Amino acid sequence: MKPKVFVTRRLPDEVMNFLEDHFSLDLNPHDKVLTREELLRSVKGIDGLLCLLTDKIDARVMDAAGGNLKIIANYAVGYNNIDVDAATARGIVVTNTPGVLTDTTADLTMALMLATARRIVEADRFVRQGKFKGWAPLLFLGADMHNKTLGIVGFGRTGYAVAKRAVGFDMQILYYSRHKASPEKESTVKATFVDLETLLREAHFVSIHVPLTPETRYLIGEKELRLMRPDAFLINTSRGEVVDESALADALKKGRIKGAGLDVFEREPEVHPDLLELGNVVLLPHIGSASIETRTKMGIVAANNLLEKLIKGQKAPNTVNPEVYTIAN
Ligand code: DGY
Repeated sequence: MKPKVFVTRRLPDEVMNFLEDHFSLDLNPHDKVLTREELLRSVKGIDGLLCLLTDKIDARVMDAAGGNLKIIANYAVGYNNIDVDAATARGIVVTNTPGVLTDTTADLTMALMLATARRIVEADRFVRQGKFKGWAPLLFLGADMHNKTLGIVGFGRTGYAVAKRAVGFDMQILYYSRHKASPEKESTVKATFVDLETLLREAHFVSIHVPLTPETRYLIGEKELRLMRPDAFLINTSRGEVVDESALADALKKGRIKGAGLDVFEREPEVHPDLLELGNVVLLPHIGSASIETRTKMGIVAANNLLEKLIKGQKAPNTVNPEVYTIAN
């Protein structure tokens, strides 16, 4: 008998076909986030759950599934939506999808840097509104990105991929991370390890690439924003809660920093109302990994984690709570 898997939202066709081939599949039939009640109802009796960062998977959901639930495969690299400790305590493996979305997210980060510094979105609106009356020397003056200083907060996969791209823009790269990178990694992109305060004071572009943890929540708040240069841009493609959104809105409104590019928000899908009113911020609906190639790869990675655990009885390759194997045995 095929293991029972519930998928909380339709994924690209190639992924759905792969899942259908291997599992007895149940799928949220609506293209919307399940309500709490719907989620609790849908997980009953499943062996595996394929969920998204918009699904809050806590102890209650795990218990609603019943004793058969062996694996929660998150369709994302970040897994702050899952209570991992509760899963471990129940012997449930939790997996994510690292690696496959790194470059796509780094591409979008560069797009946000350019869009904010060169005022791309404002300029597009201007043309559509029929306001373009011809080339003008002072029309939509922005800031250069090349030859500027980029401060990367979090120098893991995505932070490093952004650094590699920034080399092509002749940017000077500073980074702040929990650990200093190897000399080889630093020298490939000519990156300099600095403390957060130095990075914030010196960078023209501050780009955030840390996971959301209790330590990184509000890593950038009013105090940090005040350290930034008045001509600096803040870019966030990691998790919204890393930045205090109302402090950011205030800094943007008062011109304490020049602009911001945000793909993520503190209370998604809600956006701080002040940000919606501001012209010096570019707002995207969490599309960092949204290319068809990458969303397909993420699905295959998640499906493969289910396959290894539920069908082959192996350790799932992208387990984020490896201690679960020791406890379970
Ligand atoms: C992730 O994988 O954590 C991203 O935010 C989703 O694209």
